Amino acid sequence: MSRLDLFIDRMMSQRACLNHAAALTADLTGPVFELGLGNGRTYHHMLEIMPDREIYVFERAVASHPDSTPAGNLTVLGDVFDTLPEALARFGATVRLIHADLGGHSAEKNDIFARRVSPLVEPLLATGGLMVSSDRMYFETLKEIDLPEDAVPGRCFIYQR
Ligand SMILES: C[S@@+](CC[C@H](N)C(=O)[O-])C[C@H]1O[C@@H](n2cnc3c(N)ncnc32)[C@H](O)[C@@H]1O
Repeated sequence: MSRLDLFIDRMMSQRACLNHAAALTADLTGPVFELGLGNGRTYHHMLEIMPDREIYVFERAVASHPDSTPAGNLTVLGDVFDTLPEALARFGATVRLIHADLGGHSAEKNDIFARRVSPLVEPLLATGGLMVSSDRMYFETLKEIDLPEDAVPGRCFIYQR
């Protein structure tokens, strides 16, 4: 499989899983978190499908497309290993949906990162809340749920409290 194929699978899976997770959590009232803004493509999609929600963006250095740059009060600048514990103190277990696309090009490094960040993400979700991740996560209390039909297994993961 080419890198182009892998990239297309990842993009299609992100969109399918975000649409699915937004629909499944529509009745929850809490905030939404985007971990890793990058160019802002997934953030822009989240704004489109959840226009009435506060979406907080966690990023160490904002360099997104101007159309996809969050307002200052919704931007949580810094390393997620510092900002996620601060978010837990601020929001508690109230978050409706967390999307994470924090990885780079090395699958091995992404897996190490996912193991380290999982315990910081886990306590933030409200009951019924979902996490959508491009990497497999390592949670003790969240369960992995089925992907929507148009997502590619292994390219995206959904976890539920
Ligand atoms: C693959 S990009 C996200 C792409 C985004 N989903 C999009 O659609 O454009 C990953 C982003 O995560 C951010 N990131 C990676 N590790 C981070 C960390 N420890 N703390 C905060 N941000 C981090 C990087 O700066 C990068 O912008």
